[in-house]
Amino acid sequence: MAGLIPQDFIDELLGRADLSEVVGNRVALKKAGREYKGCCPFHNEKTPSFTVSPDKGFYHCFGCGAHGSAIRFLMDHDKMEFVEAIEELAQMVGVDVPRDTSSNEKPVQSNAPLYDLLGEVAKFYQQQLKQSPVAVDYLKARGLDGETAQRFLIGFAPPGWDSLLKHLGERSTNREYLLTTGMLIRKDDRVYDRFRERVQFPIRDSRGRVIGFGGRTLDGSEPKYLNSPETPVFHKGRELYGLYEARQMLRNIDQLLVVEGYMDVISLSQHGVHNAVATLGTATTPDHLKRLFRITQEVVFCFDGDRAGRQAAWRALQVSLPEMKEGRQVRFLFLPDGEDPDTIVQTEGSVGLQRRLDDSLQLSDYLLRELRDQTDMSSMDGRARLAELAKPLLRELPEGVYLDLLSQQIAKEIGLDSSRLSQHLSEADNVASQKAMRPLKKPGGTGKVTLVRHAVRVILHYSQEIGSLDIPEQLDQVDQPGIPLLLELLGSLQSHKGITSGALIQRFQDRPERDALEKLQGLPIPELQDATGELHDTLLRIVHIASEQRLQALTQKAADGLDTDEMAELRELHQWKARSGRTAGSE
Ligand code: UTP
Ligand code: MN
Repeated sequence: MAGLIPQDFIDELLGRADLSEVVGNRVALKKAGREYKGCCPFHNEKTPSFTVSPDKGFYHCFGCGAHGSAIRFLMDHDKMEFVEAIEELAQMVGVDVPRDTSSNEKPVQSNAPLYDLLGEVAKFYQQQLKQSPVAVDYLKARGLDGETAQRFLIGFAPPGWDSLLKHLGERSTNREYLLTTGMLIRKDDRVYDRFRERVQFPIRDSRGRVIGFGGRTLDGSEPKYLNSPETPVFHKGRELYGLYEARQMLRNIDQLLVVEGYMDVISLSQHGVHNAVATLGTATTPDHLKRLFRITQEVVFCFDGDRAGRQAAWRALQVSLPEMKEGRQVRFLFLPDGEDPDTIVQTEGSVGLQRRLDDSLQLSDYLLRELRDQTDMSSMDGRARLAELAKPLLRELPEGVYLDLLSQQIAKEIGLDSSRLSQHLSEADNVASQKAMRPLKKPGGTGKVTLVRHAVRVILHYSQEIGSLDIPEQLDQVDQPGIPLLLELLGSLQSHKGITSGALIQRFQDRPERDALEKLQGLPIPELQDATGELHDTLLRIVHIASEQRLQALTQKAADGLDTDEMAELRELHQWKARSGRTAGSE
């Protein structure tokens, strides 16, 4: 239902609600400069490491890493649902919660007609696939066979703005239902198909009813996958793609693989690996974990070896911890950069995949590996730091054998006997836990502060102060990690002047980038007199360095010959260089 409350309203609300009041009503806080401090309500501590920054609209705990906006606080602390939390805040501020009427004019009493209609939609797309040689060729080229395509009800949304509208939306009740399920979009007075010219992957619930779709482009156009929005029958944070199909094929499921993509699930199934499911383009949630463990005792997360994959894996580990009860296992499989389960099974077959699964990391090994990477194990300080880092993680584990085993393993790692360690772990938090935060610069690691990260950090810390910005136009051509995220943040800044940092992050609530943003938000940053100027300079430097690098690369390649596009680009870069040389010189 979240989609029904306009994002702008949520941003406004977070800007107006006083976070120190929201938190202060529930936790004893002391004022410290522009911030407030108190004992963290999310873990047990005696010395305060919980800070609330009303200006920036977020709280942060240096002990356990709890972090978020007023909405997040109400959800985690008071166990409210998203909509409830918004209503609570609206009441505090004294405003009504508006509902986006475009999708809510006729509330649907029962969801039954929605399921029926979505089933019809899936059939329509399947028929359309048969009539589209381009789409059939695309799937064939990806190695998909007809039987598997049938089993997953794969279809095709034809090009054109009103194919579905004409086929199923002529009657007005149907049209409203199709709007409610997000299959049609209403904008101003126009109603049109959401999915156009895309291969359609129906998403089914555990009973096999179609509840939404993912649609993939045939060419390279963006976004690669378009998904149904949140609707009364489709909740991304809960569903697992492929679970219904897996249960159709397998009587007992003693292991489930969690992969990232629709095509991974399908391709694995075609190769006889039927026990794979995928999250729907969102991070793994506690709800996912609960569902998985209702069905199986062993979960293996398969992630790409790239940075995003490792981040997603760490998030998966965090939500797995509370579920680590007797007899359950969680493992992590990291694939080489550039590979995914689909490509692995196509090149190495199910045997190759199995070999990799056999070598996958136990949760405890993965956890230790990550902690070791963050500390210097050769020094005593480093080993103590490892214990500190482990503390909030161990606290997430339920009492039991698993907790005992892991504590022992950590004790061995740092050369402490395990009774001393457990004593240490149960002690009240101290200042050391603050020092245990990941350092700003991790030598040689991925944690170093790149210019892009710096820009994001400035935005997060000074979102409210940043004035009109002149964003260099070449920025969106820079090919570096983090650039799309940076552009998105800049877009939010521009469309919503004075947005609080908490509201910015709230926009990423269900997205994998959230963790990284929260970490950056939690790190200290030097006081800036002119945040707008600093941000602007940083953006210019990003573009400048990227252009220099591209210029060098093209100049070198010119010896072997350039194609016409590259020649044009090189010419432009030379012009840019001449211009920037002049302005730099005239300063
Ligand atoms: P990937 O880009 O890794 O997809 O995204 P993939 O499955 O390997 O795609 P192919 O092989 O190129 O077809 C993984 C998943 O993330 C979500 C989708 O659920 C996708 O399956 N995603 C990805 C989106 O929702 N939107 C996007 O634009 C991209
Ligand atoms: Mn893929």
